[in-house]
Amino acid sequence: MNTEARTIVITGANKGIGFEVAHQLAKLQHTVVLGVRDSAKGREAVDRLKEEGLDGHFLLLDVSDEASIKQAAQQVKNQFGKVDVLINNAAVLLREDHSLSEGTAEVFHRTMRTNVFGPVQMVRHFLSLIPSGGRIINTSSGGGSMTDPVGGWSSVYCISKSSLNAITRHLAYELSSRNISVNAYCPGWVRTDMGGKSAPRTVQQGADTAVWLATAKISETGKFFRDRKVIPW
Ligand SMILES: NC(=O)c1ccc[n+]([C@@H]2O[C@H](COP(=O)([O-])OP(=O)(O)OC[C@H]3O[C@@H](n4cnc5c(N)ncnc54)[C@H](OP(=O)(O)O)[C@@H]3O)[C@@H](O)[C@H]2O)c1
Repeated sequence: MNTEARTIVITGANKGIGFEVAHQLAKLQHTVVLGVRDSAKGREAVDRLKEEGLDGHFLLLDVSDEASIKQAAQQVKNQFGKVDVLINNAAVLLREDHSLSEGTAEVFHRTMRTNVFGPVQMVRHFLSLIPSGGRIINTSSGGGSMTDPVGGWSSVYCISKSSLNAITRHLAYELSSRNISVNAYCPGWVRTDMGGKSAPRTVQQGADTAVWLATAKISETGKFFRDRKVIPW
């Protein structure tokens, strides 16, 4: 049940966890804006919601391209006037990401451009649309934890999520004066194109904490969550 419909922008929302977050929020009757970098995939995602009688709005958005982010922010401003919740979900985990000491500059730059600078640029260009009481949710990963042991997989991706965690803390500090909360969450290991077929969690389970952070009556900011609970950085 929804007492207050919010306008919620989700990046990378055509598939996986991002789509499921949009799906669950649409079911709660929020206004969901699906940021997708490919028009055909974006329209197809909106159609999938429509088949269930749900509303979603497609927004052409490539988080690695500042011009695209700028244009998307302008479109959201014209169409909706505000963004109550921004969910930075889009990310890449590149197949070639198997060694930090021997990897290529290309893998490092592509990963950081999307997973780290993408969310920062999203905040910079969307901030004027986020009112007092608004929320920013960064989709992180336990792979970025500075507490858990290093896992030995996709080190550049993991470092990108450590950076996103640091960004979450700094933005939470900066934006507290505007009464905008900024939190990060880990969806767990989820069966998606990125997570692979052996992952134990469903997309529904993976999306749950993001939906909760977007809608629950909570005042936390600058925290890292999994399964609706604060976890160490
Ligand atoms: N799956 C897991 O086990 C797991 C665990 C921890 C954290 N996470 C995090 O959860 C989030 C979602 O992951 P997922 O498993 O759902 O991955 P996924 O199925 O691979 O989906 C990733 C989404 O991000 C989009 N994307 C990539 N680069 C983009 C760009 N430059 N601009 C806009 N969209 C872009 C993809 O679009 P295209 O379809 O166009 O490529 C796709 O929609 C990510 O932040 C990921 O790091 C996932």
